[in-house]
Amino acid sequence: MKNVKLLKLNCISDDRGSLTPIEACKDIPFEIKRVYYITDVPENSIRGGHAHKSLEQVIICLNGSVTIKLDNGQEKETFILDKNNTALYLNSHVWCDMYNFKSGTVLLVLVPEYYDKSDYISNYNEFFEISSKE
Ligand code: TYD
Repeated sequence: MKNVKLLKLNCISDDRGSLTPIEACKDIPFEIKRVYYITDVPENSIRGGHAHKSLEQVIICLNGSVTIKLDNGQEKETFILDKNNTALYLNSHVWCDMYNFKSGTVLLVLVPEYYDKSDYISNYNEFFEISSKE
């Protein structure tokens, strides 16, 4: 689907456990300027509900499971993230809804810019107007 990619991370496992490195501009396609994580989400909560004007993102489910429904204005696809060696890359102009958070889920998000509320597109009609014509 356009503007969306699943990236496989290199998980290094031995009898002491697993280690997964992420190198900027190598394992993911940008320099990281901000990191945030989402925890303690009640199982019936829905997060996201917006797209971005220019921000790219990488989302990794470190623990648990979440359903992520994506829409680029032309196609829709639903992913279940439940493996910490899989990263979901979203370019801008992808509407993202996250739900079905299993108890204990930890989502790590890597982004190339500082937080900027003005980069959000929170109105679906406005998003569709822009992205359906790309
Ligand atoms: P929001 O983007 O709405 O979260 P989600 O998309 O997961 O539903 O952000 C929730 C709150 O956190 C909102 O008040 C903005 C704030 N926030 C920051 O202060 N910095 C950040 O980097 C992010 C992503 C959000």
